[in-house]
Amino acid sequence: MKASSIATALAGGTVILSAAVQAHPGMMNSTVMNALKEADRNERGELIGDLQWLHPEELSSVGRLIRSILVDGLDAQSNQYYGHVPPLGSVACARDTCCVWWYIADEMTQLFRGSDGQCTDAARSAIRLGFHDAAGWSKFTGDFGGADGSIVLAPEEMRRQANGGFKEIVQQYKFWYSRWSHFGVSMADLIQMGANVATVVCPLGPRVRSFVGRRDSFIPAPDGLIPSPFDPADKLIEFFRAKTIQPLGLAALLGAHSTSRQRFIVPSRAGAPQDSTPGVWDVLFYRQTLAAHAAPDIVRLPSDIILAQHPHIFPAFKTFAGPNGQAPWDFAYARAYVRLSLLGVFNVNNLTDCTRVLPARTFHW
Ligand code: HEM
Repeated sequence: MKASSIATALAGGTVILSAAVQAHPGMMNSTVMNALKEADRNERGELIGDLQWLHPEELSSVGRLIRSILVDGLDAQSNQYYGHVPPLGSVACARDTCCVWWYIADEMTQLFRGSDGQCTDAARSAIRLGFHDAAGWSKFTGDFGGADGSIVLAPEEMRRQANGGFKEIVQQYKFWYSRWSHFGVSMADLIQMGANVATVVCPLGPRVRSFVGRRDSFIPAPDGLIPSPFDPADKLIEFFRAKTIQPLGLAALLGAHSTSRQRFIVPSRAGAPQDSTPGVWDVLFYRQTLAAHAAPDIVRLPSDIILAQHPHIFPAFKTFAGPNGQAPWDFAYARAYVRLSLLGVFNVNNLTDCTRVLPARTFHW
């Protein structure tokens, strides 16, 4: 099967992309990667925020980079590292927007990595918080809501049922904000940087490009924009489309449940994970969600089960669950998370790329 036909099939949601993976055993191969990239392109990567109306010649280097990730299929993972980090409080550090973020990311890493090398409860909460802050935006809310820190800064959001379970991580972010805001750090950036640090701290987690410069809002995001685990699949897919996230992106983002533990869906089994390895960012979630029966140690979310079977989502689930699924998932997740982390951000062209502050990926634990 040619890359282009796989891509078309995936975009149409009618053919099992994993056939291509199985046809090319061994390492992640360029055929499958190209197919994923093309499927992504077929899903018409929409521009968001100020990128919608800026002319190409008005774009900054970061604006061009983000545009390429969103619409051209550029890899949203990066292995850039700091060579030398100036001392905190020095003039050199103050002149370098990313410098303070290296110290913040280092502190976050201590909290998100457990003594066993796996990611902690704080890490999974931080990933979910990143989603819930950014998800408070849709095409119908315009310049209001989204990745603006309001999930912590506007107390009303914490009283919403959909945001249950965030008490401890919200306290942590308030602490970090009190500690770092005088360096010019926004809550919105803390939350999105925290999600990306937590992701890469999980063994096998991708190193997702991380941007700073978002503006904070103390106004609660519009209510009703967090998906319910009890909604039908078609509704959930439309829900994400309204956030400019297409089925491939949704399938990849759902993989964050590889590290999650539920408390409210089956309260009698509070703490039960959604795959058997919640401390590791692996593809077991996709395999166990597609399996005919749930493994005894996990609780599967109703939304994950029905979405996994939906014809627009199933091909990607099958691919990620396949023997070489990790690399395509990492690629698709990073790309979708960059988009998610910029929903409702209308100064994308003025952001700074601080990916180099992230810790290294880990492959052993
Ligand atoms: C259809 C979309 C989604 C639905 C319906 C959904 C629903 C849920 C539910 C019900 C829980 C368990 C909450 C609890 O009982 O404590 C959960 C946990 C979690 N979700 Fe999602 N989710 C969705 C998408 C996402 C996305 C896009 C991400 C991130 C990119 C994400 C990240 C997480 C994480 C990391 C947890 C674990 C939190 C923890 O263990 O503290 N979810 N989600």
